[in-house]
Amino acid sequence: MPEPTDPKGSPEFDLNAWRREIPLTERFIALNNCSHSPRMTQTSAAAASFLDSWDRDGMDWDGWLEEVEAAKRAFARLIGASTEEVAVTTSVSAATASIASTIDPRSSRNRILASEAEFPTVGHVWRAHEKYGIGVDWVPIEDDRIDPARYGAVDERTRVVSATHAYYQNGFKQDLASIAATAHDAGAWLYVDAYQTLGTCPIDVRELEVDMLAGGALKYLLGLPGIAFLYVRAELIETLEPALTGWFGRANPYAFDAKRLDWSGTANRFETGTPPILSAFVARAGIEVIEAVGPAAIERWTRILQQRLIDGGRARGFEIHGTTDVDRKTPSTAFVCPADSHLIEVALRERGVLASARGPVIRLAPHFFNTLDEIDTALDALAEVFAIGRP
Ligand SMILES: Cc1ncc(COP(=O)(O)O)c(C=O)c1O
Repeated sequence: MPEPTDPKGSPEFDLNAWRREIPLTERFIALNNCSHSPRMTQTSAAAASFLDSWDRDGMDWDGWLEEVEAAKRAFARLIGASTEEVAVTTSVSAATASIASTIDPRSSRNRILASEAEFPTVGHVWRAHEKYGIGVDWVPIEDDRIDPARYGAVDERTRVVSATHAYYQNGFKQDLASIAATAHDAGAWLYVDAYQTLGTCPIDVRELEVDMLAGGALKYLLGLPGIAFLYVRAELIETLEPALTGWFGRANPYAFDAKRLDWSGTANRFETGTPPILSAFVARAGIEVIEAVGPAAIERWTRILQQRLIDGGRARGFEIHGTTDVDRKTPSTAFVCPADSHLIEVALRERGVLASARGPVIRLAPHFFNTLDEIDTALDALAEVFAIGRP
């Protein structure tokens, strides 16, 4: 086998110290971060503090809601927004449904222009609103990527352009600033699902001129299922009234007046019912780890790890799905499987490697705590498993 061209480099943080905070690294090579990242001592401590409070106090409503606010503040800092522009929700699906439910089908702008690279749930939510008279147009995937010029299909009937920051299947990243400019020139808003990029690189919603952005906690943000965040640009908030609502969307949730639909002046208006409190405790702790390591440092280190994956994969004769330009992708690299990708995932797990199957590919997605040696070991395991899978 030819030697892969080794990209040289080392992380700008104390990798071994961080690894000691992640018990799973003693047993597994965790490369499924595009799907679910491992537990850290910091996130465990946050979960324990909720459980302790539950035990000790029975209920600490004010203290728990303050933790939800703290999670919102942490998310807002991460994306360069203000806390008033961030709503807590339960999933990207719920965040998307909230935005969809703000669109008036009787208005002249009642169409969505969505990329085919959206995670299916986003497309499903847009499509479910067709029954109210909302139309959905699609920006095609061509050659495993999206040509930004295709967003030129936006027109005076488009209310929202829906562009995922990165394609979940192969990590291909879209140029959000250019898509925002195209959307805005036509008078439409840009909605971004950033689930696959949050925690992997710096994201600044003002710089990118994104109007709405959603993402959950359990992938590179090191959190748990049950919570997601929705950013809505300040100037838009008071113009939008989501039909998907509830008491947490009110100006005063404690007015307890079932007939009064008063809208919160902040992004709280995109909230519905009781928030996911345990998940919020954990989300805050996870985001604080990302802040401490630093999104820019994470991006630099994971580019080195990705390059090792790409070079090592090529050297072993694997076919890579999508771009191999590490400047244009997330840490996730997708290898085309010779057999059922789920079976490949299971066989890798048996060899101590956590990976993530999606359709025809197996994704290896390093995070800041992975090492170059782990990449080499995982590629060797994949070569072994692929060899078994070949007829
Ligand atoms: C890009 C992207 N968006 C959304 C989701 C999931 O959305 P939800 O929070 O609705 O489960 C995933 C993966 O699970 C994803 O990769």
